[in-house]
Amino acid sequence: MTYGDYEIKNGHLYISGADSVELAKEYSTPLYVMSEDVVRASCRELKGALDKYYESNGLITYASKALCIKEMCRIIDSEGLGLDAVSGGELCTAKAASFPMEKVNYHGNNKTDEEIRMGISFGVGRFVVDNKEELIRIDKIADELGKVQKVLLRITPGVDAHTHSFVKTGQIDSKFGSAIQTGAADDITDFALTLENIQIAGFHCHIGSQIFEQEPFVEAARVMLDFIDETEARTACFFTDLVLGGGFGIKYTEEDKPLSYDEILRPVLTYVKAHREKVGKKLIHLGFEPGRSIAGPAGTTLYTVGSVKEIPNIRTYVSVDGGMTDNPRYMLYGSKYTFIIANRADKKKDNIVTVCGKCCESGDMLGEGVELSEVHAGDILAVTSTGAYNYSMASNYNRIPRPAMVFVKNGEARLAVRRETYEEMCERDI
Ligand code: LLP
Repeated sequence: MTYGDYEIKNGHLYISGADSVELAKEYSTPLYVMSEDVVRASCRELKGALDKYYESNGLITYASKALCIKEMCRIIDSEGLGLDAVSGGELCTAKAASFPMEKVNYHGNNKTDEEIRMGISFGVGRFVVDNKEELIRIDKIADELGKVQKVLLRITPGVDAHTHSFVKTGQIDSKFGSAIQTGAADDITDFALTLENIQIAGFHCHIGSQIFEQEPFVEAARVMLDFIDETEARTACFFTDLVLGGGFGIKYTEEDKPLSYDEILRPVLTYVKAHREKVGKKLIHLGFEPGRSIAGPAGTTLYTVGSVKEIPNIRTYVSVDGGMTDNPRYMLYGSKYTFIIANRADKKKDNIVTVCGKCCESGDMLGEGVELSEVHAGDILAVTSTGAYNYSMASNYNRIPRPAMVFVKNGEARLAVRRETYEEMCERDI
């Protein structure tokens, strides 16, 4: 995985060749800055691993929930990846970016009829189906539209990944999917096979997010391949696809020790290949759907420091012009980030501060116990690894407009998302 593409020149933090202090001046703050090269490098590393260890027999679908905007869809498409969408909104964004819909997997544990209709008429490649009720509705709507919809059935393999409980999904007790151990996975498969407008392409699992180990992925592959073998023997049907989800961990701070894509994927790809050879079957079409690891390391958020308040013997609050509205992850998960004073990026970090936002809410913080160099009002504060689950989880709490986003390549920035205006926020009010 590539990170940030940072350099320090004349004391300023540069992102992919662009001076972040100048970017803050030109586009104002808060500002999301994405390095296009970092996104592209991740896409290529992922594809490279599939080519090297699995004869290119698969598709990486970018989980767009991490950052779903048209520019991201265009870059992902130009790198030859597919897309994982999880709502009507994400489907529409992909469509608006002219993303090839046959390369879209459509997820979600409670798709509405309207979304199902939209997905089928857009021609999405595969629906990832969570439950029987959904199957019934897809079958009915596909019938009305005169189509047969390919699906992947979402299975919970019972693999416990060591990650935050909010982003853990592979265990039996999950709102997602049908568990193998309880027999629910067999039930939903048998049921799907009876439906005329449904074609089961294969199976899907996702064990969690921000995972730093290889073993859970190999274990998930083992459980899923055994399940497929047993199901094929039991039903005399054959399935072509297996998607093993996303979840590759990234580095937010020095505490995080992420593996490279090669390190994560080699064992699981080698395992799947060996298994298929052992059982005498051709390679199953394999999918992975990373979101965080493609978008996250490419993003930096720039803020302007508004005030520095020292409470003697307690702590120092550094207030910035954004906060939980553009990055709710510290509030939600206690997620740690790395902070840099972008206009004095070469200075030693010898202060410990609390970085807080501008919302009327005491918990509105971006980090506590944060290491920072000398800091004053007017400084530009950069937060790294904010490309995933920041803009996509942003809100208008306190009627704060969502920030703009630029993409940078070879020192040149271009606007990808315009800053929201006050008028836009009031527009829908009657
Ligand atoms: N596939 C499925 C079915 C998923 O549910 C997810 C993430 C992914 C792929 C992508 O996982 P990734 O590679 O990004 O780890 N808001 C949380 C993360 C929630 C992840 C939800 N599902 C956060 O900010 O950490």
